[in-house]
Amino acid sequence: MNLYFVNLLVQFLLKTKQTMYKFIDNTELRKEKRLIWASTRSVLENIGFLRNKNGKKSKSRWNLFVRLLHIFIWLLKLSGHYHKGYGNAKTIEVTEITLEYPNLPQAFDGFKILHLSDLHIDSIPGFASLIIKKINKLSFDICFLTGDYRKDNSGSILNILKPFRILSKYIQAPYGTFAVLGNHDTFLMAQYENQSGLELLINESVEIIKDDDRILVTGTDDPFSYYTEQALLSLETKCYNFKIALVHTSELAKAASVNNYDLYLCGHTHGGQICLKKGVPLISHQFEGKQFNNGEWKIGNMKGYTSRGVGVSGIPVRFNCPAEIVLITLKRS
Ligand SMILES: [Fe+2]
Repeated sequence: MNLYFVNLLVQFLLKTKQTMYKFIDNTELRKEKRLIWASTRSVLENIGFLRNKNGKKSKSRWNLFVRLLHIFIWLLKLSGHYHKGYGNAKTIEVTEITLEYPNLPQAFDGFKILHLSDLHIDSIPGFASLIIKKINKLSFDICFLTGDYRKDNSGSILNILKPFRILSKYIQAPYGTFAVLGNHDTFLMAQYENQSGLELLINESVEIIKDDDRILVTGTDDPFSYYTEQALLSLETKCYNFKIALVHTSELAKAASVNNYDLYLCGHTHGGQICLKKGVPLISHQFEGKQFNNGEWKIGNMKGYTSRGVGVSGIPVRFNCPAEIVLITLKRS
């Protein structure tokens, strides 16, 4: 094969890759909306104005939690359980599930989704390489990340950039890697979007194109601490045969179900992270109902999955609640 044909083949492959997904809004409109979003969220972050769909959040509840956490860390160390819990946090399970839908477009039958949530990648030194070891053994078509990339919910993000770049090189999903922000994340992360090898969905939708079929994926900003009506509006999308919502928490699940979404993926709870023997969480940081704490759930025709998360926050330990990477296979029934 001479150089001319090699060049043609490369161009064809690049073109094919470019048409695997397409944003609903054009580039100019996306830029404009992002600017408005960044201005709003920067103010909310900088003045510490945290709000969910019920309004402004109380800081005293969070301050009490932080104080209790320090006492708990001290008790774990004193009782000799800290080391065991730290080892548990570094052990990641792969959960494989199959979800069946009669309305799934034919081309997406067997489509595999890698769902990663709550990486908190700087909580444990070298954690990215532990995740890579697991991901390397899996094959998938698309990757969705549902928020919380750093340990703390304020401060610099520079320490997570390097491990994140390394991780995203290994993800390499043929139909793209899409991410939403969580309550530990900052609007500044959007500046590094191009370098990180993933596409942020901030109250935005993208069409995934396979053969002649299309499905819609919508990602919202975090509704746990930075809720705005724009998140809700972004779920009011037009008709598609199949729609997926990516949100950090389960808080927008009812709205997504009303808008005929078929699948809702979220995290945030860490499954409790520290649980009693039967997986009952001591604290879950969600108030939507215990069915949303982890695993599969359903609202109307919409199926949902709350990931127990890959990483840890607050305290780098897990008990009776293993970290998970979720591999979802979509099937047409
Ligand atoms: Fe988290």
